[in-house]
Amino acid sequence: MTRITVTIFLALLSFLSHLLILTTQQEQHPDTVHPNCSIGNGTYTDTSPYHNNLITLLSNFTSNTTDDYGFYNYSYGQNPNTVYASGLCRGDVTPDVCRSCLKNAARLLPQNCPNQKEAFLYYDLCIFQYSSSSMFGIYVDPDFYYAFNNPESAADADQYTDALDRLMQVLKTNAADGGSDRKVAAGNSSTLSSGQTVHGLAQCTPDLTEQECDDCLLKGISDIPLCCQNKVGGRVIKRNCNLRFEKVRFYDPTVIDPIQVPLPPSTDNSPSQGPPDAPNVPSSGEGKSNRSRIIIIVAVVIGAFIILLILILIYFAYRKSKKTIDNEAEKKDEEEIKPDDSLQFDFETIRAATDNFSTANKLGQGGFGPVYKGKLRDRQEVAVKRLSMNSGQGDLEFKNEVLLMAKLQHRNLVRLLGFCLEGIERLLIYEYLPNRSLDYVLFDPIQRTRLNWEVRYKIIVGIARGILYLHEDSRLRIIHRDLKASNILLDKELNPKIADFGMARLFDIDQTQSNTSKIVGTYGYMAPEYALHGQISTKLDVFSFGILVLEIISGQNNSNVIDEENIQDLLSFVWKNWREGTTSNIVDPVISSGSRDEITRCIHIALLCVQENVGDRPIMASVEVMLNSYSSSLPLPSRPPCLMNFSSTLEMQPREENEGEQVRNSAQEAQK
Ligand SMILES: *[C@@H]1O[C@H](CO)[C@@H](O)[C@H](O)[C@H]1NC(C)=O
Ligand SMILES: *[C@@H]1O[C@H](CO)[C@@H](O)[C@H](O)[C@H]1NC(C)=O
Ligand SMILES: *[C@@H]1O[C@H](CO)[C@@H](O)[C@H](O)[C@H]1NC(C)=O
Ligand SMILES: *[C@@H]1O[C@H](CO)[C@@H](O)[C@H](O)[C@H]1NC(C)=O
Ligand SMILES: *[C@@H]1O[C@H](CO)[C@@H](O)[C@H](O)[C@H]1NC(C)=O
Ligand SMILES: *[C@@H]1O[C@H](CO)[C@@H](O)[C@H](O)[C@H]1NC(C)=O
Repeated sequence: MTRITVTIFLALLSFLSHLLILTTQQEQHPDTVHPNCSIGNGTYTDTSPYHNNLITLLSNFTSNTTDDYGFYNYSYGQNPNTVYASGLCRGDVTPDVCRSCLKNAARLLPQNCPNQKEAFLYYDLCIFQYSSSSMFGIYVDPDFYYAFNNPESAADADQYTDALDRLMQVLKTNAADGGSDRKVAAGNSSTLSSGQTVHGLAQCTPDLTEQECDDCLLKGISDIPLCCQNKVGGRVIKRNCNLRFEKVRFYDPTVIDPIQVPLPPSTDNSPSQGPPDAPNVPSSGEGKSNRSRIIIIVAVVIGAFIILLILILIYFAYRKSKKTIDNEAEKKDEEEIKPDDSLQFDFETIRAATDNFSTANKLGQGGFGPVYKGKLRDRQEVAVKRLSMNSGQGDLEFKNEVLLMAKLQHRNLVRLLGFCLEGIERLLIYEYLPNRSLDYVLFDPIQRTRLNWEVRYKIIVGIARGILYLHEDSRLRIIHRDLKASNILLDKELNPKIADFGMARLFDIDQTQSNTSKIVGTYGYMAPEYALHGQISTKLDVFSFGILVLEIISGQNNSNVIDEENIQDLLSFVWKNWREGTTSNIVDPVISSGSRDEITRCIHIALLCVQENVGDRPIMASVEVMLNSYSSSLPLPSRPPCLMNFSSTLEMQPREENEGEQVRNSAQEAQK
């Protein structure tokens, strides 16, 4: 009888604590990339053989594989410049997912750790690293440690930790025991009496010996308290091994056969405090006279617990509200989780920051409205775009779009810091870049001398990476549609940053790959299929990129006539010289140094990007590969479209309201 009451009571308690946990659970951000660029201290320069080897190795990293067990290890290059790379996927992911994870990792890691010979990256489903020395079969860097916790605290921490320990010991031994193909184990273990289960996974790179794997995991287990004491979940990542635990099953049990760790033999004097004590109190029966006493005691215990629970609830509610305030500043830096309101600025703040949108602070007039320079109270300088077009979206949609755009963070994109929404006012607040836009520097006879070939090449590669991120890596698949020199801003080191991305989304312009009646873009940069038929695809941006590259190399503005005698646009001019083998005529005379081969190759790539036939243009990912590998041969371009022809056709097209202005508005976008 007592047993039953106690069991019901415990079930109730665990149910209530689950409710409690649900309300305090926080979102995790598992697919964030976590690079570590300081696992070694060697560096390379962009022109070194090491760099070339790295690019070659990484561009092909997973395409070569015949094995499907989730561990890849390759090297490339001659001795002093050999690059070694290895990738390990979590034991339960399918080969396809694994390759795609590693492919992303191989692309992102050099971007995140430019010029580092050695680098390491952790993703939710894979780890990836490269180095100038072989890592195969070596237990490297035992002190390396990356850890994350699931911020939720375990309901019964002592028991949970105990179950976790038992689980990890078993997983360690089983993973280490795996063959030379796979060293991974997963399973679960339950607490003695509080009804919780902890799920875990432990894994080593299969090139380690059993002993090394055991050592590595042992070290990992001993690191758990550093990150994850009393938490329901956590991950410890090391160069050769990693482990993870959660209170819910997070791996696929059809791939890794889970091990169920048995409960230890029950000793009745289980640890102090709380429910486990209850059975001990009146266990030995003294007959019927005792029954009422027992009921009273149980009732009192239940009463006390309900009060305790209420107190705990109040405590958690208090802690949660306190936490959100404390963490606000911290969270601003985080990529994935961002409280909506931290991005929203108060209209009065911005009005004050821009001196009531004074003309003195006006940086320029873009297609979507004027841009002002502003200074916030903390002296941070910002650029404020005051949208003048009616976006045709409600406040909520606008806010959602802006929040999505704010998540797009890449070093070649202008960073969106926030927005402001008040009445009909809609403002976008961006980081401020003092060096103005590319057209200002590139087309100015004095400024352009700052742009030697190294800088121009860096700008070309940076723009390519920015577009690639928009097209592929950002998850949103953004087509910019209005890439041009005035939309490329330059930072202090003349690194390019793309501005005005996501505008098409913000203005509710049809984003599907279908025809659209609304044309947003700039004459001279626009792909013919878009200008003539409104066809949308990522190849639009590829076309504009090609034009940009030709402008950067020639220092000529595409919308200007180059050769006064026989009027021609930049494309015809480039094509003529390309065909006649006089490419040096194309190159800006200001460029005195620089590899001819590299310049010619860039012109070649640009010509491929501006092919009239959409299918003949490469995708941005291929462009990046072409830019990075000097060895691979490129297809021959055919004659690019004649912009003069289709621009006159464009004039004939009926236009809708203000889009026409946008089309003609060839300059002064963004911050100027
Ligand atoms: C960094 O350089 C120092 C001195 O050259 C060397 O002793 C050390 O081992 C290097 N560290 C790593 C992690 O390679
Ligand atoms: C791919 O395989 C070929 C032939 O086996 C080899 O020469 C090449 O180095 C491999 N590529 C990579 C990136 O390992
Ligand atoms: C890239 O992979 C392909 C396909 O397996 C292979 O034939 C080629 O040799 C590899 N290239 C390099 C540079 O490793
Ligand atoms: C990994 O690399 C090592 C040394 O570079 C080589 O001996 C080994 O065969 C490679 N293993 C796999 C699975 O590619
Ligand atoms: C990267 O790894 C090194 C060496 O293991 C470590 O000292 C350093 O703190 C790590 N850096 C980051 C950002 O985690
Ligand atoms: C623990 O693992 C065993 C063995 O696969 C499985 O039967 C059981 O359902 C798991 N327990 C939980 C709570 O998932």
